Amino acid sequence: MPLKLPIFMDSQSTTPMDPRVLEAMLPYFTEKFGHPASRNHPFGWEAEAGVDKAREQIATLIGARDPKEVVFTSGGTESINLALKGVAEMYREKGNHILTTTIEQRASLDVCKRLERQGFEVTYLPVGREGLVDVETLRAAITDKTILISVMFANNEIGTIQPIAEIGKLAKERGIIFHTDATQAAGKVPVNVEAMGIDLLSATAHLLYGPKGVGCLYVRRKNPRVRVAAMMDGGGHERGMRSGTVPVPLAVGFGKAAEICREVMGEEGKRLGVLRDRLQDLILSKVDEAYVNGHPTQRLPHNLNISFAYVEGESVLMGLNKESALSSGSACTSSTLEPSYVIAALGVDSELAHSSIRFGLHRFSTEEEVDFVGRRSVEVVQRLREMSPLYELAKEGVDLKTIQWKGE
Ligand SMILES: Cc1ncc(COP(=O)(O)O)c(C=O)c1O
Repeated sequence: MPLKLPIFMDSQSTTPMDPRVLEAMLPYFTEKFGHPASRNHPFGWEAEAGVDKAREQIATLIGARDPKEVVFTSGGTESINLALKGVAEMYREKGNHILTTTIEQRASLDVCKRLERQGFEVTYLPVGREGLVDVETLRAAITDKTILISVMFANNEIGTIQPIAEIGKLAKERGIIFHTDATQAAGKVPVNVEAMGIDLLSATAHLLYGPKGVGCLYVRRKNPRVRVAAMMDGGGHERGMRSGTVPVPLAVGFGKAAEICREVMGEEGKRLGVLRDRLQDLILSKVDEAYVNGHPTQRLPHNLNISFAYVEGESVLMGLNKESALSSGSACTSSTLEPSYVIAALGVDSELAHSSIRFGLHRFSTEEEVDFVGRRSVEVVQRLREMSPLYELAKEGVDLKTIQWKGE
């Protein structure tokens, strides 16, 4: 079968929706249109049953004891806002210190900046060369004013998976609330809020083959009972934490997507890991001075991030983008020409941070697609290097750092 172009390999920005998810959602757009809070007639009961089932499916995926701990939101960004601002407001009397990392997604970092302007102190922990947070550094940064630790489960650019269970244990020992942004990890790798000591967890449906516009915040109800201040005032839906009518079809889709992920995650992860390694080997065997960013093993199976020395990531994308959808940096910042702050945080030099490309495989990726994208990436990088005076100089043995550029 001929390849269908363009090929989507940007699954960290969003995932294609699984057709089974759409099928589950459709009746809730038409005949099952009731309001889930209408307690006094069958239309409401039917809608409520759909939402309850979805809550259960999501709770099962993340290992929550009680479906009531799942609070529906509009997506990952809102969940993160609710978690961070909600804890800050609710626990302000207890302390004003928040611990997070330099490689969180913009939603987390921007909330933290706002909280700083409001008088909170935020410590942004560095990460090592492979993108891992050091738990001992985290321990040392805790003060008696620390009310929240927020560390993402897996990074959206490099895929590195953090030692979440260790952080959860530490947070428990010190009586600090632990939030994790699991938008990239949930549905892809095992996530268990009980086993990992997670108190608050943000997830979004569109990154696990569900619809856009719905997400959730897991809020622990026991050991300890965690409370977050609501960001929106209104009808007191979602146990008072998130007012507003739950978008029933979207919630049902999220639930179905979570159920499918739970069933297929093991096999899917293995398959995508094999495909990812194939892509990585194909590229690294043909291109010199190409470096994989992130942890070699502790990373999401579908994620590959490579810096190609002497070429701009943006130029590589321009060479490929008619036939392959890839990304440099994260989806939201790739429109600017700033180097990725995540890659920069790994301590690689700024040229390499400018030259990173992110490949994201997904449920529907095939070997043929991987081979095509791999081959084309190699061709484009080689062509750009042929035109690059820097590459030529480097190949002649000139140390580029010693060059005094005119105008410097
Ligand atoms: C790590 C991470 N956190 C949060 C978000 C935001 O989620 P949403 O798009 O559902 O608002 C994203 C989106 O890509 C993400 O990758």
